[in-house]
Amino acid sequence: MTLLTDDDLRETRCLINGEWITGPATFDVLNPATGQRVASVPLLGASHTRSAIDAAHKAGTNWKALTAHERSGILKCWHTLILAHAEPLARLLTEEMGKPLAEARAEVMYGASYVEWFAEACRRVYGEVIPSHDPRKQLSAVRQPVGVVAAITPWNFPNAMLARKLAPALAAGCTVVAKPAEQTPLSALALAKLACAAGVPAGVLNIVTGDPAAIGSELTSNPLVRKLTFTGSTAVGKLLLRQCADTVKRVSMELGGNAPFIVFDDADLDEAVEGAIISKFRNAGQTCVCANRLFVQEGIYDAFSARLVEAVRHLRVGDGMQEGVSIGPLIDDRARRKVERHVQDALAHGAVLLQGAREPDGFFFAPIVLGDVTPSLLVASAETFGPVAPLLRFRDEADVLAQANASEAGLAAYFFTRDIARAHRVAAALEVGMVGINTGAISTEVAPFGGIKESGYGREGGPNGLDDYLDVKYLCLGGLN
Ligand code: SIN
Repeated sequence: MTLLTDDDLRETRCLINGEWITGPATFDVLNPATGQRVASVPLLGASHTRSAIDAAHKAGTNWKALTAHERSGILKCWHTLILAHAEPLARLLTEEMGKPLAEARAEVMYGASYVEWFAEACRRVYGEVIPSHDPRKQLSAVRQPVGVVAAITPWNFPNAMLARKLAPALAAGCTVVAKPAEQTPLSALALAKLACAAGVPAGVLNIVTGDPAAIGSELTSNPLVRKLTFTGSTAVGKLLLRQCADTVKRVSMELGGNAPFIVFDDADLDEAVEGAIISKFRNAGQTCVCANRLFVQEGIYDAFSARLVEAVRHLRVGDGMQEGVSIGPLIDDRARRKVERHVQDALAHGAVLLQGAREPDGFFFAPIVLGDVTPSLLVASAETFGPVAPLLRFRDEADVLAQANASEAGLAAYFFTRDIARAHRVAAALEVGMVGINTGAISTEVAPFGGIKESGYGREGGPNGLDDYLDVKYLCLGGLN
């Protein structure tokens, strides 16, 4: 296996039909920790996107004709190459996104796990023989790739969110045009470089960077694109859904959350605090599944808040490249202003600052714990996407379930209890797609990731993760008398 040099991996051109191309103009990618330019990448628009879609469409004929075993082999090779380049991929990720290097390393492994998972899964795409309603007819159903897939991915997990879409799409026999977030295109281009080295043929995977509105509108209106998969904000997801309606595309949407994190009186306090730190402060609070509202039962509220404050004091804020840093910068000024607005609103409406500073230092926000938060405050009613832990009190199970479910979002929820009957009741009653019971870490390639309500639909990973990329075709064979 030939390894790519760090320079080779640091690709700044786009990939269309197997060619690495520059564009008429470029835009800068900035390191959020330093404000320095990391690279410039092509500012592409609708016409390049159209070329990428045409290339993907043409390449689809041969790609889907490969056996599952052949596609699986290419994906396995890609997986091996990702692992072999894990360290430079992680460094690139921290440079463009800001998360601590340890988290970037974990993210690269997390992304790679989806590639391996789907390399294995594509060899088990079975059809069905259906008991017939007529002795002269034989009925069956087969699964076929949906065709060209458009993938739009976010900046908070620039490697893993792309891998989690590319791997099932390619494994299923689809071809892809992907648009990574403007803030973090380099991880995507590096993954594509490795995919090419693994033998993904020209046109099967295309990456375009640039103007989100122009690229998004081509991806959603072009009839050759048969599916859109998107991870990002609910507002953008709704816009893309509307745009996809005219060509009736299949869609998967992994949108925003407002995760309740519930600590019952009978919880193991150590586990609950550990779970809160993982769930709330991973990626500086910039994940869709982050705890957004921490509900603590009255009897344990003071003890839990004291322990949480103590744990949060030990979190070190700084440049993700520095050893020992656990909270990196927020991604950009927009994110910083949003977090600031949420904190100021809470403090102006009766919340108490238990830990942290009111003001950020540039893009760096020291982790904050807010006490006495009430449900109507911004910090509890909207997704903050920052290192802010708002604590709300609750009386009993019915009270907290009503509050937890009073949200348009329905992505993840967490709760801590040692009562097994309550664990079953609460898990069943929470209106979300994923529940962590006595844990703050739920993400894995082997389980279905996704939400309900305005958090979207479709599931990524897990035993049925290929379904979103396959159409079911029913065959009715007559004349058998
Ligand atoms: C996300 O924030 O969208 C994904 C987080 C994860 O996969 O754990």
